[in-house]
Amino acid sequence: MATISAVSTQKEAVSNQEEQPQKTFLPLQVAKRLEKFKTTIFTQMSMLAIKHEAINLGQGFPNFDGPEFVKEAAIQAIKEGKNQYARGYGVPDLNSAVAARFRKDTGLMVDPEKEVTVTSGCTEAIAATMLGLINPGDEVILFAPFYDSYEATLSMAGAKIKSMTLRPPDFSVPIDELKSVISKNTRAILINTPHNPTGKMFSREELNVIASLCIENDVLVFTDEVYDKLAFEADHISMASLPDMYERTITLNSLGKTFSLTGWKIGWAIAPPHLTWGVRQAHSFLTFATSTPMQWAAATALRAPESYYEELKRDYMAKKAILVEGLKAVGFVVYPSSGTYFVVVDHTPFGLENDVAFCEYLIKEVGVVAIPTSVFYLNPEDGKNLVRFTFCKDDDTLRSAVERMKAKLRRR
Ligand SMILES: Cc1ncc(COP(=O)(O)O)c(C=O)c1O
Repeated sequence: MATISAVSTQKEAVSNQEEQPQKTFLPLQVAKRLEKFKTTIFTQMSMLAIKHEAINLGQGFPNFDGPEFVKEAAIQAIKEGKNQYARGYGVPDLNSAVAARFRKDTGLMVDPEKEVTVTSGCTEAIAATMLGLINPGDEVILFAPFYDSYEATLSMAGAKIKSMTLRPPDFSVPIDELKSVISKNTRAILINTPHNPTGKMFSREELNVIASLCIENDVLVFTDEVYDKLAFEADHISMASLPDMYERTITLNSLGKTFSLTGWKIGWAIAPPHLTWGVRQAHSFLTFATSTPMQWAAATALRAPESYYEELKRDYMAKKAILVEGLKAVGFVVYPSSGTYFVVVDHTPFGLENDVAFCEYLIKEVGVVAIPTSVFYLNPEDGKNLVRFTFCKDDDTLRSAVERMKAKLRRR
């Protein structure tokens, strides 16, 4: 895999702190199941960005703050002494708020006590799902490009990963390939809609085909919907809401993207009781419970009026327009993004050999950070022409990044 090694990244960190006495490190150690995963690309790019004072359109965290009413609710919860361990599967108020939002969004009524598990971000919900429901050797289907924690947590669970590639320009599901790969040996399929990094939203037709194949082969669906409220060009469709699918679906979500509070790490998994059991067993021994005051505040957040979500969408559509128009003017081939706060482009007009080389050039010579997408594939070659930019930044930052690229990037 084309990555900068963890060792060289560590050296850079050390050389940035010159007043520290020089230390010698022993060779890095890691268990075999995680050996192939290097320092995540987000850490590598963010460190390079700091070194070169580059504008960070790489990692997907907003450079603006979450809403006051949610921050106030957290302060209030802390002051009221809601500071000890929470109930393992979530403070009751949050479980109820998650269930209520799910009902509003999907029409499905779930029991907050038996079907909602609160976790430390969606990342923990993903890990608890894999570790709680996948046995070593189980086959799991992924669509590449995929969010990087899927492969790592599936490796921890000992799964056999089968990946199929969503290809530009529309990143549609390769239905025939899926039909040939899915079988009675498949334990689960993982989908992510709206999709990081491409911004693709799975269409109703695609979801229907996946659903009927899952029913036919008795396959579970793990569906990561953290960007459900950032659906711009189409309505978000939850797999769980399709006929006969709830009983085999685990819906994963979190607060971070929708409320610009990515550092709070409050997430959840919604599933029928027989599947929630596995998720909760893993969750109990991963973290047991997550931050109590933040859970209370998250419950307040989820009760936000519709106008909050409408405004969020309006703001993000304006940001997307700034970035997309800017990238087109710079000379990129920009692929349509229907949801999320990401957009994927083809960098090849600029003549660099691959996505990692392009992103390093972009940081060092232009002063802008993007994320190489090859790290989101089992076969990195599939992503070598594509890089991802995010528009979850204030408008001035987006405009400055575009200006830098206009001034310094030349087609070759
Ligand atoms: C598709 C996807 N799933 C999950 C996560 C992680 O969510 P959380 O911060 O709630 O752990 C991210 C964050 O970037 C993501 O893009």
